[in-house]
Amino acid sequence: MQVTDFDPSQASDAQLSQWREVLNAMTEADMPGEPRWQLDQLRDYLSVTMPGEHRYAFVARENDAADSRIIGHANLLLLADDFDDTGVFEIFVHPGARGHGVGRTLLREVARRAAVEGRGTIGVEVIATTPAVDFYDRLGFSRAVVENRHLLAMDRVDWDAVSANAGRVAAGYRLEYHHDGLPDGLLERYAAIKATLKAEPATNIGAWRGSADVQRLRDSLETLKARGLRSHLVVAINEPTGAVVGLTELVVAAQRPTRGDQYDTVVAPEHGSYGLGLAMKARMLTELREHEPQLRDVQTWTAIDGDPHAHVDAELGFRNDVQWYEYETVVSDVLYRLN
Ligand SMILES: CC(C)(COP(=O)(O)OP(=O)(O)OC[C@H]1O[C@@H](n2cnc3c(N)ncnc32)[C@H](O)[C@@H]1OP(=O)(O)O)[C@@H](O)C(=O)NCCC(=O)NCCS
Repeated sequence: MQVTDFDPSQASDAQLSQWREVLNAMTEADMPGEPRWQLDQLRDYLSVTMPGEHRYAFVARENDAADSRIIGHANLLLLADDFDDTGVFEIFVHPGARGHGVGRTLLREVARRAAVEGRGTIGVEVIATTPAVDFYDRLGFSRAVVENRHLLAMDRVDWDAVSANAGRVAAGYRLEYHHDGLPDGLLERYAAIKATLKAEPATNIGAWRGSADVQRLRDSLETLKARGLRSHLVVAINEPTGAVVGLTELVVAAQRPTRGDQYDTVVAPEHGSYGLGLAMKARMLTELREHEPQLRDVQTWTAIDGDPHAHVDAELGFRNDVQWYEYETVVSDVLYRLN
């Protein structure tokens, strides 16, 4: 086995196919209910980052030959600005190659690179029912955040109820739907409400890594698009002032187009209790039905100790199925343990 750096932007189609094959074999073995990966824009998904961020990738190959089969891979995203002490990584080993130190070797590469790049901590997201939990527990990671994942199957949506909720917008407000970006006139107002979210730790799960200024928001929407992640946005506007007072964001990846990922939802505190959260999320579902007809389900996460949007999700038919853990460790500690 050999572990080397991997540059997805220069990789051959055959290598990217092997990368994807590892993901799909892992999914089959560990989480068979989750959607499989497609090759569509996989290269972009792996190579494009936000300005100022950088993603390293590594592959584990079967033997020393340069073209030998990929049996595992890892990637490490170096975050920027407020999170420039942190790296977020993923490691996947083909089920047929596990138990022989491949995961450990990939993790060592990730941790070494994080150290070289001056990162103090690294973190990883893990589904609670998978073998990755034992791996990270054994290697001394701690659970920084535990979340409940909820799924809504599109074929079980009560469309009459959802349409009614989407239309139930209090007087003085209106909803707007946008996809793959926002009109210039809305960007600034949208960024302002995102700043509310950032300032309200009670509404956030874990560390909030969203984009709360106009340039970062524009970069973030462009980055999503360039990676093949189609963004869908519903905003609530206060008609007398024109202010954006609420938003909900959802993304569908070209690489897993049957799954929608719910991103942020926020309502400005002074506009709470008008039912805007429910109306926005219901409107989102009606738009998805039209714009993403291949969608099979939508996933969202809530904090285990209560979440302001949990009742909205329940009303729309979301069901809690599994916990997700955010594991983290101090880089120097994990390097010590691995060596
Ligand atoms: C977790 C994973 C990377 C482990 O890969 P691996 O190559 O089998 O791991 P290694 O052989 O290097 O094992 C390293 C250590 O972890 C332990 N370990 C690994 N899997 C384990 C399991 N399922 N149960 C108990 N211990 C386990 C090993 O015993 C070993 O301990 P040791 O070095 O003290 O003997 C692999 O199972 C995988 O790809 N899982 C899916 C990944 C995933 O879900 N990722 C989501 C977040 S990125």
